[in-house]
Order: sequence, then structure tokens, then C-alpha cells
Amino acid sequence: MAKEAVRVLVTGAAGQIGYALVPMIARGVMLGPEQPVVLHMLDIPPAAEALNGVKMELVDAAFPLLRGILATIDVVEACTGVNIAVMVGGFPRKEGMERKDVMSKNVSIYKAQAAALEKHAAPNCKVLIVANPANTNALILKEFAPSIPTRNISCLTRLDHNRALGQIAERLNVHVSDVKNVIIWGNHSSTQYPDVNHASILTKDGEKPVRGLIADDKWLNSEFITTVQQRGAAIIKARKLSSALSAASAACDHIHDWVLGTRQGTWVSMGVYSDGSYGVPAGLIYSFPVTCEKGEWSIVQGLKIDEFSRTKLDATANELAEEKSLAYSCL
Ligand code: NAD
Ligand code: LMR
Repeated sequence: MAKEAVRVLVTGAAGQIGYALVPMIARGVMLGPEQPVVLHMLDIPPAAEALNGVKMELVDAAFPLLRGILATIDVVEACTGVNIAVMVGGFPRKEGMERKDVMSKNVSIYKAQAAALEKHAAPNCKVLIVANPANTNALILKEFAPSIPTRNISCLTRLDHNRALGQIAERLNVHVSDVKNVIIWGNHSSTQYPDVNHASILTKDGEKPVRGLIADDKWLNSEFITTVQQRGAAIIKARKLSSALSAASAACDHIHDWVLGTRQGTWVSMGVYSDGSYGVPAGLIYSFPVTCEKGEWSIVQGLKIDEFSRTKLDATANELAEEKSLAYSCL
């Protein structure tokens, strides 16, 4: 029997990430090659004409899996009946800014859109916040949409996770798909902690720990970490625009693994509501290592945290607590 289409909302769909993301969704990159989709695209009035242009191109691309396209500037219409919401709408930072510098504009959007999602999305809708400051926008959406289950609200740190995989693969000159189980802890900001203590490489002789293969602790404990933390800024410097194709691809990876499951023995990083695991205060949206099965994520438990990592986990948690108060002062 033909599968029922899944309704996927993309906010900010006329922007740069939106333009890279919607064709990926329509091609089955997010939900698999057998899953039909209906795209709901939201933007604001100044972008309405560009949004209509994106809709025209989607029609012209004749994607077999794409069963319908809604392009609208009405948030209620956009949210109605959606099963998955990818929240990209907002303002990107420019060169020299930190992600929290876009706080006041962006958190108010998430407070307003929380209500529309809560009232009009399909029950059990899964929400992914991409717009920065991603963790804090997700927290605000959670707090202003109390009837959406907390487990259904997440933010994107998969881009940072993929960046960490990419850096290790380049350093060891191995294929990126042979690197697994890096972790991004904390905030999608320059305080995030990219951790390789539990990461390994698949070799022809079995799995080998990254720390055994890269003897240079100095590189792993400093340059690797800062490269991943600062990668967004490096891309802005090079492109004069923030990352878009890698962000869109990571958003697809995030939803794909959440809905369809992570591979056996492999975890990914997702920003989710802290339950106090690893001593991270509850009440923050914090990036943890997670595995996913049957549409549910679980935080990987029992990993050993050394003293160096402890300091880093706490620093990024402290920044998130500060962002939370700043966000409330902006609302
Ligand atoms: P962009 O400016 O190209 O596009 C953003 C779009 O959002 C625009 O079309 C704008 O009109 C629209 N928009 C603004 N307010 C809106 C609202 N209230 N409702 C719906 N749409 C609205 O920006 P972009 O490069 O696509 O980036 C989007 C966001 O994603 C930024 O906040 C950026 O910092 C963030 N980002 C996050 C990650 C991550 O890994 N979490 C990665 C890259 C970018
Ligand atoms: C990124 O990590 O590329 C995005 O969050 C954009 C930015 O502002 O760095």
C-alpha cells in the first residue's frame, strides 16, 4: 500500500538554508527514498515573492516524492497538520558577531511560533530548531508550547558533530564514514565541547580509538576543539554568509536518524532537554550523545568524563544558563 505523505514544515524557507534544504527533503534525503512528503514553507512578507519562486522551482524539479507544496506567510496555515517542523526562520549572524548577538530578534520569533505549533501541528510533531541561538530558541519554544512533549523539541548540533567527524577524517586521511562516536556537548556556540575521548575509526583490523591513532594530544586538546568551535565563524569569513548547504544536510541527518534510528553501535549529537545526565542542570537544551530507535532518542549513559572534559561540560552549561536569562530579559 502507498505510504501516507509526511508533512514537513520549513520556516525561513526563502533563505539560504531553506533553499538548500527543501530540495533535499523533496528528494528523500531526510525521510528516505520511499517516503512521500508535503512541504509547508513559511517566510515573512518581504520574502513572499522569493518564497513563491522557490515553490516554482520545486514544481519544475518534478520530484517524484513531493506530493504537495504550501508556500505561505501565514504561520497558522504553515503549522497546520505538520508532522515535522524544521525551524530555520530568523536572522543569521554576520562577521564579528557571536550567535547570541542575534538573540533579541530570534527568541521573540520562537515565542510567537510556539503557540502556532502547539495549537495546529499534528499530535507528536517533532521539532528541530536550526536558527540561532539554536539551544535557547528551542528552550523558549518549549516553554511557550507547554503541551508539546519536551522529548519532541530539539536543536541542531549535528552540524558541529559532522564538522568534528570531518576534521578527524582529514587528519587521519580516512573516509569520514569510518569515523564514529565523536560527541558535541552543550551549546551550539564557541563554548561547545567537541569530545573525541570515545570516538573510534573502523579499520580493516577492527575499531581503533581515535586517541590511539592520533598521538598528538596537543592537537586533539586544542586545535581540533577550536577549529570545530570556530568553524561557523570561519565560513562566515570566507563566504560572507553563514553555512547553508552543510547546515541543511545536517538538519536532514538529524531528522533522518531521529525518525529512522541510529546505526547499531553508533551515536550522534542532538540538542535535547537535559534530564540531569552527566551533571548537566535540568532545564537547559544541551547537546548530548544520543541513540535513536522507533522515533525516540535516548542519552547515551555511562561514558567516563575526565577532569578536562568536566570543566568543558560545565563551561558550556554555564553559558546556556546565562543565555536563558538573557533570552527572558529580551522577551
Ligand atoms: P537567511 O537570512 O538566508 O534566511 C532566513 C530566512 O528566515 C529569511 O528568508 C527570512 O525572511 C526568514 N524569516 C525571518 N523571520 C521569520 C519569521 N518570523 N518566520 C519565518 N521566517 C522568517 O538565513 P540562513 O542562512 O538561512 O540562516 C537561518 C538561521 O539558521 C540563522 O539564525 C542562522 O544563524 C542559523 N544557522 C544555524 C545553524 C546550526 O547549526 N544550528 C547553522 C547555520 C545557520
Ligand atoms: C554555523 O555554525 O555555521 C551557524 O551556526 C552559523 C553561525 O552563525 O556560525
